[in-house]
Amino acid sequence: MDSPVVTLTRNGAIAVVTIDRPPVNALSADVRRGLLDAFDELADDPGVAGVVLACAGRTFVAGAEISEFGTPAFSEADPNDVHAAIENLNIPVVCALHGTTLGGGMELALACHYRIATPTAKLGLPEVTLGLLPGGGGTQRLPRLIGAADALEMMLSGAPMSAQTALEKDLIDVIVEGNLLEAAQRFVGELVATRAPLRLASEVDVDRASVSPTLFAETRTSLAKKARGAIAPARIVDCVVAAVTRPFAEGLKYERDLFVECMNSRQSAALRHAFFAEREAGKLPGNLAGNAKDMDLRPIRKVGIVGAGTMGGGIAMNFLNAGIPVVLLEVKQDALERGLGLIRKNYEATASKGRMTLEQVAQRMALCSGSLEYAELQDCDLVIEAVFENMDIKKAVMTRLGEVCKPGAIIATNTSTLDVDVLAAASGRAADVVGMHFFSPANVMRLLEVVRGRDTAPEVLATVMGLARTIKKVAVVSGVCFGFIGNRMLEPYLRECESLLLEGATPTQIDHAVEAFGMAMGPCRMIDMAGVDVAAKVVLERRKEGALPADPSYRTACQMLFELGRHGQKTAAGYYRYEGRTPVHDPEVDRVMEGLAAQYGIARRSDISDEEIVERCLYPLMNEGAKILEEGIAYRAGDIDIVWLNGYGFPALKGGPMHAANVIGLEQIVACLDHYADKRGNAFGYWTVAGLLGDLAAAERAFGDA
Ligand code: COA
Repeated sequence: MDSPVVTLTRNGAIAVVTIDRPPVNALSADVRRGLLDAFDELADDPGVAGVVLACAGRTFVAGAEISEFGTPAFSEADPNDVHAAIENLNIPVVCALHGTTLGGGMELALACHYRIATPTAKLGLPEVTLGLLPGGGGTQRLPRLIGAADALEMMLSGAPMSAQTALEKDLIDVIVEGNLLEAAQRFVGELVATRAPLRLASEVDVDRASVSPTLFAETRTSLAKKARGAIAPARIVDCVVAAVTRPFAEGLKYERDLFVECMNSRQSAALRHAFFAEREAGKLPGNLAGNAKDMDLRPIRKVGIVGAGTMGGGIAMNFLNAGIPVVLLEVKQDALERGLGLIRKNYEATASKGRMTLEQVAQRMALCSGSLEYAELQDCDLVIEAVFENMDIKKAVMTRLGEVCKPGAIIATNTSTLDVDVLAAASGRAADVVGMHFFSPANVMRLLEVVRGRDTAPEVLATVMGLARTIKKVAVVSGVCFGFIGNRMLEPYLRECESLLLEGATPTQIDHAVEAFGMAMGPCRMIDMAGVDVAAKVVLERRKEGALPADPSYRTACQMLFELGRHGQKTAAGYYRYEGRTPVHDPEVDRVMEGLAAQYGIARRSDISDEEIVERCLYPLMNEGAKILEEGIAYRAGDIDIVWLNGYGFPALKGGPMHAANVIGLEQIVACLDHYADKRGNAFGYWTVAGLLGDLAAAERAFGDA
């Protein structure tokens, strides 16, 4: 046989089939073809008594090649033929698992007669996270091997299983320390010597004890609540029902049909888009990336954080979790102690839920020290300021950091609203300065906006992007502008939400409409949670700078609620009244909005539809995204999607605002913006179509087209 990605070697009577397709040995058409050839050859080779299937590189097959879905390559060399060729070989086939055996890799492993793994191996069927189901026999073989209930749990969560758990569930046969390939060859040798039976998952019946009478009904009920219209989870249940009730061959065919339905769905296209966009976001483009390869990234061995408030503490935990020592700086001893105490309390809460041991809490706290002296920051490789959001205060901190930080140290600001270039200038060493905009709670939220200043050195940017990976954040680079990518796009969204309130929509109606679109939380509930005071202060500050539209009614609802002391959930009143944490419609808010409408001469109406709410809140947000792209604030449309998916509860099944705009159709978005400009007037330019959006729509192209 002759395949660049699959090789067949012989060691006496034992054959070794090796897949070598970096980076993760994804099961592409060429790998499947290579495997078919190899197993065909083995079927005709009487000199071979047993086979090991293994992978070179960092992992066993980590899935089907996602980029081939929906392309002609997908239909070449059917994985079920590969599996049949393996299962039907009349000598034992053992697969040797290391790294992450996922998706199509797991299905390949299930088709082998025996499975052995390293102690650190992980096994999973994560297809559901991509809007898919295991389409290479996984839904049929897994229930036969571990029972219907466990198989459902594994496929619906998509979460990988440790080798230890897999062993306990008889999903693998043995865990081996030391050299995996040698152990696998010894193992298959023993199988041959003892004439061990060939175990074919396809020939096993699903254990009836694993199928309680209510299993499927209960699973469907819980999915209806949790999965919010997702197709793939429901189809996975259908397939497991088939595994229980139908012969293997029929189940396999049924699975394939449902897989193709999922693959061709918009949901899966959106989730696959997000998968690749997330990985792309971590890369610096063009010449920056070229330079980054050659440049010396700065090692980050110790981190300083100025400000031990909720934000500073949350940021610190990210580094402590990654084993990087942190020194927290405060101005007063009691504030410092409070900050350190808060970190400890957070860890202890995690430990009390069993997600961490007390020993781990102690290890993390041992890495964390506090100080009142700037001089203590001298040996830090990175210092992040997380002090009160005020230009004068932050500038003073940056100046001080510019003086005390060692040469080569990176100085970061966690500002969410201030001009990073002004702060960088205050440090006196702007090339070392970068923005690191964490989202609250900073130890939980995955998103990190990395703000590239005018003078930020490329290696500083590249270092911080690498560091983001170390602390398990998804990082997106933003240029300098008010609100960066996320909050800047939030502004037109909130503007329209508040206009709709004045025109007669209620907070409940707006939130329901936007949540029905898929947003995790409507805008009114969101501001109530974040704090009406916080939102109103940002508007006030921006007003002073003259950075907001001259429209006198601009975001007036939020300011009025703030003046009335309705600060949101924390005062049990904001856009809603709160009973505990439950928002309740408050007629008082209706009266406030009626008053504001009268004051600004805005006509109230009762015909505001959910469709109008969604279009008016979301299309200007997408339009703002287009401006962000054309101004070069974001490198790519996908980066914007990643910000909104990870920081603002945009529905994953819609792939982010720019992907959603593509699906709606850019022409349609433009027509809609024009329609509202016409209907509502465009004195403040709210409905002016971004140049890039107009151009793409006219050319029938989409965001993200090269
Ligand atoms: N198909 C195609 N490419 C894949 C892939 C797949 N199934 N899995 C990973 N890759 C690519 C990534 O896009 C990335 O490419 P890049 O370096 O050009 O950006 C590279 O492999 C490394 O992946 P990354 O996620 O950055 O590395 P990691 O070590 O953090 O994680 C995995 C590795 C395998 C755990 C992770 O990539 C993963 O979960 N992959 C998807 C697995 C999956 O869902 N399989 C089922 C498919 S049906």
